[in-house]
This record gives sequence, structure tokens and C-alpha cells, in this order.
Amino acid sequence: MTIGKIIDGKAFAATLRDKVADGVAAFAAQAGRKPGLAVVLVGEDPASAVYVRSKGKMTLAAGMESFEFKLPASIGEEELLDLVEELNADDRVDAILVQLPLPAHISEADIITAIDPAKDVDGFHVINSGKLATGQEAFVPCTPLGCIMLLKDELGDLSGLEAVVVGRSNIVGKPMAQLLLAENCTVTIAHSRTRDLASVVHRADIVVAAVGRAEMVKGEWIKPGATVIDVGINRIADGDEGKTRLVGDVATAEALAHVRAITPVPGGVGPMTIAVLLRNTLVAAHLREGLPKPTGL
Ligand code: GUN
Repeated sequence: MTIGKIIDGKAFAATLRDKVADGVAAFAAQAGRKPGLAVVLVGEDPASAVYVRSKGKMTLAAGMESFEFKLPASIGEEELLDLVEELNADDRVDAILVQLPLPAHISEADIITAIDPAKDVDGFHVINSGKLATGQEAFVPCTPLGCIMLLKDELGDLSGLEAVVVGRSNIVGKPMAQLLLAENCTVTIAHSRTRDLASVVHRADIVVAAVGRAEMVKGEWIKPGATVIDVGINRIADGDEGKTRLVGDVATAEALAHVRAITPVPGGVGPMTIAVLLRNTLVAAHLREGLPKPTGL
């Protein structure tokens, strides 16, 4: 029995961050300032807090300016909108990221709509998602763009391949499907209510799992030789001593016997998200300065 390849997202992300850092130095030499990324965290969600800390560190490591705003969960929507307006107007800020999810009393749609689309490095604004859907240049959400980079690195041309995306979120599933379509894949979006998910997944040359359910996609569902991108990050119990571990949305150990290649959890897609965020920030800075978009990223 052959065993599939484990795609090293951690190494790919490190290489991308190095390229971004080179681009940042070149930008600073031309523009006389550093690119700036503002990250807004509302509330105390521990996973979000870990993520935001890591973003801040890597922004600085890439040579960029980092602006962090930590606000209590009790903040009103108006106050948050005021902050977004301030950041829109601040010339040092090229990129704005409001960490999701937001507390239930704040409308995520209202906040995202308030972000200047030219600073929307998450690609969540309807201007950017609409541009992506209609084949125009746009900021593309970081996680799906990172997935496409890994897929193209592994497979080269994706044209004509059968792709199944499991999950239909605005952050991953929907933009992922648009990106695969733009690469000329035949795309199916499946989700938790899809009937006979096993046979839908079994059609795919490319499986992107982004449903947020631990090890939901079973190894035997995978067509032999398919490439699997596992976006899930689920914390599950590990033994009975209160320990936990991270697993993806795919039963990786089983899947390895079927796949050509698969991303691990952790160390697959996860590290790509921040690297692409830095890339998008560098692009935003160039566009805001009227400089040509950097190439090779
Ligand atoms: N929450 C989970 N992933 C993301 C992301 O890529 N961007 C933002 N803003 N929030 C998230």
C-alpha cells in the first residue's frame, strides 16, 4: 500500500513570509514608509486571542507596522463602526482586519460593509466578494487563497479537475469554490446537509474540507490519488486525563492510504492564513501608493 504525501504548509508559509519581507523592504525604500496592518479583536475568545497575537508578531517580523485594538465584548456597534471609520481615514493603515466572530449583538455584515474595500485584506466586503465572483481583481480571503497556493504547488494546472468543497462559509467555502472555478475546476459545494456526502466526496480529484467537524471526512470516501486540503482546526479530548489535541475535518491517518497528498493539522493550511494576510497587506500598500502590484507572491 502506498502512503500519500504530507503537504508542508508550515514550510510553504515560511517561504511566502520571507518573500513578503523582501517586498516590504522594497516598498519602504520606494514609499518612505512601512505597510501598516490594523487588527481589531472584540471580546475574549481564546482561539481568536492566540491568532491575533500571532498576527501581530508576524506583521512586525515581516517589517510592517502593526496596530492592535483589543476591545471588550460589551462594546456597542456604533463604537466599533467609529473605530473602523478612524482606521479607514488613517493613512498609515493600509489594511484592516476585524477578527470574526464578533459578539452576537454586533452585526458582522454592518462592520464588514464599513471597511474601505481598498483596505479589506480579508476580502470579506461585498465589493471584493462580488469582484471575485465576477472574475475581477480583488482582495481574496486569506485561507482559501492559501489553499489554492498549496494546490497549485502540488498539482500545477488545476484545469478540468473535479473539486468538492465541503463547507459553505463566507470565510472559506464560498470563496474557495470561486477560486477553484477561476482555475477551471468543475466545482461542487457540499455541506453538512448534503445527502450521501461520501459519494459526492468520492468524485473529487481535489477535496477541500472546511465544515468544522472533527474527522468528519473518512479515509474511504477519498478517491485514490485525490489531493486533500484540510481546513478544519478542531480541539478534541486526547485520552481521559483532560488532555486535548488538534485534528482537522478529515480522518488523516485513514486518508493517507488513499490520497496523493494531504495537508496535516496542525502545520498545513493554518500557517498559510497569516502568510497570505501579510501578502494581501503588502499588495494593499502598493495599490494605495499607486505602485504596481508586487509580482511573484
Ligand atoms: N476568523 C477566522 N478566520 C478569520 C479570517 O481569516 N479573518 C477574520 N477577520 N476573522 C477570522
